[in-house]
Amino acid sequence: MNIFNRRDFLATSAGLLAAPLLAADSPKPDFTFALCTDTHLGKPGADYVKRMRQTVAEINASPAELTIFCGDLVDSGETEARQKLYPEWVDIAKELKKEYTAVPGNHDPVEMFKKHIRKETEGVLEFKDYRFLTFADAEPNPGHLGVVTPEQIKWLQARLDEAKKKSQRVVLAAHVIYHENKHPDVGWYIKTGRAEFAKLLAANKQIVAFFGGHLHCGLRGWSDTFHGIHEVILPCVSYNRDRMLQNAPGFAIAESRPAWVLVDVFPTELVLKYKPVGADIAAEKKLALK
Ligand SMILES: [Fe+2]
Repeated sequence: MNIFNRRDFLATSAGLLAAPLLAADSPKPDFTFALCTDTHLGKPGADYVKRMRQTVAEINASPAELTIFCGDLVDSGETEARQKLYPEWVDIAKELKKEYTAVPGNHDPVEMFKKHIRKETEGVLEFKDYRFLTFADAEPNPGHLGVVTPEQIKWLQARLDEAKKKSQRVVLAAHVIYHENKHPDVGWYIKTGRAEFAKLLAANKQIVAFFGGHLHCGLRGWSDTFHGIHEVILPCVSYNRDRMLQNAPGFAIAESRPAWVLVDVFPTELVLKYKPVGADIAAEKKLALK
């Protein structure tokens, strides 16, 4: 178990909070990317449109070379009243200076996603020696579990084979994670197609990480399945609940402020930085690469 909380970070890294996102004397990563999830535009309780705008501005001011949105772009997008928010989501995302992609969450009907966000729910982004595979795996509201179809398995395997030929490391990104995240977590995982998806994860050692959103529990993860794939739940830009997971298996950052994640890619590790919206980087988590 590896716990890294805000207090430890402040104690061991005094001064960094006030420093720019990339300190001048830090070792330079091969590249950096941004992960952002669960913007939930339209949800009552806060101005989530404004918060997404601020997030996009912050990503533009960061060294991120690309951005991936992991679903729940609009809140309850299945209701007609909320569907006007999809064009607004796109308008804000288009302000990103670098490339971005997205997947639908359980709040995003696939037809809305295809109409406004991307024609395909599956996608490939390549940067340096990395290949990012994004795919739709959330059953629609009111469901919370994940679904991977035989067609998606075939598509993913073909893209993974291409990655292997190019000696690329692969990062998967979807809304629902594979890990079972049993109690004290909520247990929202890929259920339909699980055995086939498990085989795919086990057989493809080029997969180094799988990022998802959906759990609204802050930054949380495990590396205990198959060949040590880092499965990571991202903090949400909309809201996170403190589920008191510090003693649960895996790692959990003691932070629940709305946030996005900046990932520095090094040859031997990924460094995840918890970036609260409107505040400096609050914590980081290092994930070793084999
Ligand atoms: Fe969500």
